Amino acid sequence: MPKIYIVATATFWIFVSGLWLAGLSAPKTLAETSVPVEKGYSLTDVAAHASPSDCWMTIQGKVYDVTGYLPDHPSRPEVIEAWCGKDGSKAYDTKTKGRRHSEAADRLLEGYFIGDLKQTTP
Ligand code: HEM
Repeated sequence: MPKIYIVATATFWIFVSGLWLAGLSAPKTLAETSVPVEKGYSLTDVAAHASPSDCWMTIQGKVYDVTGYLPDHPSRPEVIEAWCGKDGSKAYDTKTKGRRHSEAADRLLEGYFIGDLKQTTP
């Protein structure tokens, strides 16, 4: 067998093996990893955090862990605590007496955002 043929074949396979190894060590795309791109919670997840010491609530399709804010909320504690583990959208929009929260309250709320509310398919 001519020497040039052996050298060419060996070079070819070394090159192919190199490509294969490079593919193995290449960084994975997001779709290939199991890291969730966005966190989503269901109403059942939210309902599991229904106490003042662990208080999540959903407001307009977003989920908030407001546990740390409860002691600072300006109303009587039971007014806000009643919404732990629940959808507080309407309560937040009305403060249960027909008045919206201020824009400062909206900005404060964003600091407690933990994820979107997962839409359940019908
Ligand atoms: C969802 C249940 C909630 C209810 C029923 C509720 C109700 C109330 C009430 C009765 C007041 C005091 C009276 C008034 O200002 O008119 C108040 C004030 C306030 N609340 Fe809430 N609240 C809720 C959730 C929250 C959350 C989650 C935040 C922020 C993380 C928040 C932030 C504030 C702030 C900053 C004020 C001072 C007034 C203002 O900026 O609008 N509240 N809320």
